[in-house]
Amino acid sequence: MTENSCEALCRSLVANNGLQSESTDISQSVLYTSLMGLLLVADKKTEIPLGSGQVGLRNVGNTCFLNAVVQCLSHTHGLRDYCLTKSYLQDRHSSKQEPVLMNAFTQVLSGLWDVEGRDAVVNPSRFYSAFKEAVPYFSGYSQQDAQEFLRFLLDRLHTEINRRPTKRPPNNTQEPKHKIFRLAEQATVMWKKNLERDDSRIVDLFSGQLRSSLHCSICSHYSNTFDVFCDLSLPLPKRGGDRVSLKECLDLFSQEEKLDEENAPMCERCCRRTESTKRLTIQRFPKVLVIHLNRFTMSRYSISKSTVRVSFPITNLDLGPYGPVDCGPVLYNLYAVCYHSGMVNMGHYTACCRDEDGWWYYNDSSVQQVPETQLQSGQAYVLFYQLDSSIMRK
Ligand SMILES: *[C@@H]1O[C@H](CO)[C@@H](O)[C@H](O)[C@H]1NC(C)=O
Ligand SMILES: *[C@@H]1O[C@H](CO)[C@@H](O)[C@H](O)[C@H]1NC(C)=O
Ligand SMILES: [Zn+2]
Repeated sequence: MTENSCEALCRSLVANNGLQSESTDISQSVLYTSLMGLLLVADKKTEIPLGSGQVGLRNVGNTCFLNAVVQCLSHTHGLRDYCLTKSYLQDRHSSKQEPVLMNAFTQVLSGLWDVEGRDAVVNPSRFYSAFKEAVPYFSGYSQQDAQEFLRFLLDRLHTEINRRPTKRPPNNTQEPKHKIFRLAEQATVMWKKNLERDDSRIVDLFSGQLRSSLHCSICSHYSNTFDVFCDLSLPLPKRGGDRVSLKECLDLFSQEEKLDEENAPMCERCCRRTESTKRLTIQRFPKVLVIHLNRFTMSRYSISKSTVRVSFPITNLDLGPYGPVDCGPVLYNLYAVCYHSGMVNMGHYTACCRDEDGWWYYNDSSVQQVPETQLQSGQAYVLFYQLDSSIMRK
């Protein structure tokens, strides 16, 4: 390994761990094990022969939601390679419990990326059973929501491959106020606390940090809270017309919200609820950005679905404007889309995923090439973006 690539590795490792260069106090052992993990992956990566990935999944009874999400995850290279190289067997903390779901998921991916897999169809039954075992809520054969499935799946996979002991209680001790000098420091402290408890390849790839800032209109005090997110669930603007842009959804998500006395949290300085404004921004950007277009609106008696066409960029989605002040452009490229067509309860899920040959349409067992111009539709439901790593972040 050349010195340059080692340095790049360390830098990306530091970025992975959410540590800023000014506070690189990660322990030698963490650094070492993480580096070894990366080296193992890097080494093995060249060894696994991959097929085209253009392989469908059998619908084993209303499982199109599962099939569409699995295809999107199967095209998330950082996750796919981690599974196929079986790196998770060394990585996870608890070696007593079998990573049942991870094994079953990996088996599906092995089928999808089999070298001789072209024209084959993979049966996800075993994986689906393992999933229902882990999440009994998903039992029964009623139509399920793909986004909900994705959240549960990533959560359970994470639990099996968490590098931290599972039983450690959360340390929510607040830093003494006078110790926090800057917002960025506060955010880093919170992020590290989270990593002490939850640290896995899933976190490396999908986790980011949201900042919620509250501004009291009486005393002008600002307070911030930080939360980890694994996807952004965006509201769709409600207005006339059949077309909105992803930017409008993001603007709406991050727009300042007025809270009256009743709905505002307590102002730390006034020690009472006051009229406030709240705003959400992204404090830390994930490597893989999952955007959920919240098409379903729950009312008291029913769920309605919006079929508004949301136009989204395929390359260079810039999230910089929703990040910390002066963070510069933060660019993402689209690599997979999960679609929902039809009615709320009788819908059908499909996916489009990108590989070197272009875009492919996955409709359960059928796989067809699709022109990029057909990706945008009123059915796009979950978007998968990869951070453009060609831009070196500071
Ligand atoms: C909990 O967090 C506080 C503040 O960050 C720290 O001082 C303390 O040592 C932590 N306790 C444990 C058990 O890690
Ligand atoms: C997906 O496949 C089903 C049959 O399996 C077919 O009825 C449906 O039209 C297909 N959808 C699209 C959009 O191609
Ligand atoms: Zn106040």
